[in-house]
Amino acid sequence: MKAVSLFIAASLSGISYCQPAKQQNSTIYNPILPGFHPDPSCVFVKEWDNTFFCATSTFLAFPGIPIYASKDLQNFRLIGHAFNRPEQLPAFGNITGQQQGWYAPTLRYHNNRFWIINSCVGAATGYWSTPDPYNNSAWTNVTPTDIPGYDPDLFWDTDGTIYSAFAKTVLSDPFTTEIHQVNISMPSGNTTTDRFLWNGTGVQPPEGPHMMIKDGYHYLLLAEGGTAQAHQVTIGRGKSAQGPFESDPANPILTAYNTSEYFQTVGHADLFQDSVGNWWGVALSTRSGPVYETWPMGRETVLYPAKWEKGQWPVLGGPIRGKMEAPLPPVNKNIRGTGAFVKDPDNYNFSPGSSIPSHFSYWRFPQTQNYAVSPKGHANTLRLLPSRANLTGDAAFVPTDGITFIGRRQTDTLFTYSVDVDYSPSQIGEESGVTLFLTQTYHVDLGIVRLNKTGNCLRFRAEGPNAPKETVVAIPQKWCDQGMQLQIQAYNVTHFSFSAGPKDGQIKQIATVPATIVSNGFTGSFVGVYATNNGNAKGKTPSYISNWVYQGQGQYIGNGEFYPSNGQKSGAGF
Ligand SMILES: *[C@@H]1O[C@H](CO)[C@@H](O)[C@H](O)[C@H]1NC(C)=O
Ligand SMILES: *[C@@H]1O[C@H](CO)[C@@H](O)[C@H](O)[C@H]1NC(C)=O
Ligand SMILES: *[C@@H]1O[C@H](CO)[C@@H](O)[C@H](O)[C@H]1NC(C)=O
Ligand SMILES: *[C@@H]1O[C@H](CO)[C@@H](O)[C@H](O)[C@H]1NC(C)=O
Ligand SMILES: *[C@@H]1O[C@H](CO)[C@@H](O)[C@H](O)[C@H]1NC(C)=O
Ligand SMILES: *[C@@H]1O[C@H](CO)[C@@H](O)[C@H](O)[C@H]1NC(C)=O
Ligand SMILES: *[C@@H]1O[C@H](CO)[C@@H](O)[C@H](O)[C@H]1NC(C)=O
Ligand SMILES: *[C@@H]1O[C@H](CO)[C@@H](O)[C@H](O)[C@H]1NC(C)=O
Ligand SMILES: *[C@@H]1O[C@H](CO)[C@@H](O)[C@H](O)[C@H]1NC(C)=O
Ligand SMILES: *[C@@H]1O[C@H](CO)[C@@H](O)[C@H](O)[C@H]1NC(C)=O
Repeated sequence: MKAVSLFIAASLSGISYCQPAKQQNSTIYNPILPGFHPDPSCVFVKEWDNTFFCATSTFLAFPGIPIYASKDLQNFRLIGHAFNRPEQLPAFGNITGQQQGWYAPTLRYHNNRFWIINSCVGAATGYWSTPDPYNNSAWTNVTPTDIPGYDPDLFWDTDGTIYSAFAKTVLSDPFTTEIHQVNISMPSGNTTTDRFLWNGTGVQPPEGPHMMIKDGYHYLLLAEGGTAQAHQVTIGRGKSAQGPFESDPANPILTAYNTSEYFQTVGHADLFQDSVGNWWGVALSTRSGPVYETWPMGRETVLYPAKWEKGQWPVLGGPIRGKMEAPLPPVNKNIRGTGAFVKDPDNYNFSPGSSIPSHFSYWRFPQTQNYAVSPKGHANTLRLLPSRANLTGDAAFVPTDGITFIGRRQTDTLFTYSVDVDYSPSQIGEESGVTLFLTQTYHVDLGIVRLNKTGNCLRFRAEGPNAPKETVVAIPQKWCDQGMQLQIQAYNVTHFSFSAGPKDGQIKQIATVPATIVSNGFTGSFVGVYATNNGNAKGKTPSYISNWVYQGQGQYIGNGEFYPSNGQKSGAGF
């Protein structure tokens, strides 16, 4: 752990506890939403106590589309999820594709309501809204809209017309899109036939449009180049919401393409203003460096300052770095609600009367009976009942079967995650443990498993194209007597370890894997727990999880530099 000395250095020179005066620079620590938080869309709402609200993509994770609130653009509290109950869109529960589900949301505030429009790929496209973003139940069900594409935007024009621009695949070429537009009527959700709007600068595929109006121009902000290294932010403007649009000669106005920056794939932006009129932008980015091999946290949300003078094109403050200077609003963590701040560590004992923390995720809808906090006779535990299918599923698996899995995002480059597991499987095939989970086709698991009639052992196995070999090891009697602890650690920037041991005792490393195994696709890694009977219907043994701890141990920002994770105890000030 050579890195340790580096975070101490970073902590000494880092965060200032003084509140900066207006317009004075302070440090943006990127990503502002670390871990799996792609496709950010944000608004600033004066009427809601001068608060910024952001939404991000969640694909098959449930609850979906988290809403984060902040007053200082640095401390973001999870205040709810726009998609939080099956009735809102039942078809979500039937999606099979691991890269499907909720794509890029657009979050807007209009007429005293917060609105989301989004494509749930594999189910439906639609919009929904709430008068109160702090109350999950207040989000309406999804109103389906006939939008023949993805990444829909929502824009109210000055004459009251509601437009949605979106990316439409040109049928003759599945890798080519154009930006099209429909008018939406509310509350029916009816749309007009779509029309061509803009192609962007010609770097395929244009997507992620956001329309805004300023100084007599309609602007159309786009993502181009695809979500990998060529990702870029471009913009056009015209005198009408229906175009035509001229391209900013400075395009792309933000990108990490062809650079050696650690923060790569910068694109899919949104722009908003704060209470003193400063402009800000968010975008997604991957902490991977240009090599783009190791990025287990997937696409994260970054912040940057912007300048947008009257009648001029916006100028975005890149390149995106882990530390950037900008006139941030003063530090203010006074945000309503009980949800965790996104950068905070976990320390949960599932005490009686508590509920499952709101930042824990399932994969599709949970079978709720499989998860219980402090059930009778087992205070201070989370009880898991096994799903028939393991995390991968088998030939007979259908999405509505559910997989017993619950996890939290990997939000720090380095971290230690551990749980105590009280579990005595008695039927062959029964298994419960910890997992580093990207999707059902990419995950790495360490579980206690019953393999035969005589005993239980620890099994390490993984799913994915480069999955390491399965390892089975015996469980020492002492561990069984004392109860067991399982741990996943990102011990350096490129590798994870999986370990086990007795509760409160010395743990032993069972296996290590390169993070490249979970650097793939549109999502980002979770760490969590699972239980399955691997298809043996007789297996019903509960697994009791306790002492759930996740602690970040450093955010890597490239060039050998880390900044400390929240709650990290590593010397001065932390
Ligand atoms: C989902 O699939 C199940 C069968 O697995 C079916 O009964 C149900 O109607 C489907 N629901 C939706 C909303 O498509
Ligand atoms: C939350 O919203 C639901 C549905 O609109 C409503 O019944 C409930 O009273 C609201 N709760 C609070 C605390 O506002
Ligand atoms: C919406 O479209 C449906 C089907 O075409 C039609 O029956 C309905 O009248 C429309 N509603 C409105 C408000 O235009
Ligand atoms: C969309 O709304 C605009 C503004 O009201 C109108 O000019 C246009 O005709 C509408 N488009 C369609 C296809 O109805
Ligand atoms: C937009 O791009 C598509 C796909 O490349 C192309 O077929 C079309 O002609 C372009 N349209 C305009 C107006 O440039
Ligand atoms: C990056 O490099 C490629 C290949 O040279 C070039 O086609 C592209 O225009 C460059 N893009 C940017 C944004 O620098
Ligand atoms: C604040 O930081 C920006 C870079 O984002 C720099 O251009 C500007 O000079 C700084 N302003 C002050 C007052 O230090
Ligand atoms: C999951 O179950 C299937 C079917 O029984 C099996 O082939 C596969 O190896 C299991 N995978 C994991 C990672 O448990
Ligand atoms: C049964 O499993 C235990 C623990 O994994 C192992 O030590 C033992 O050799 C196995 N016995 C047989 C008969 O396969
Ligand atoms: C992380 O540790 C592994 C050995 O477990 C080593 O191969 C790898 O080079 C290390 N990565 C870094 C970035 O130091």
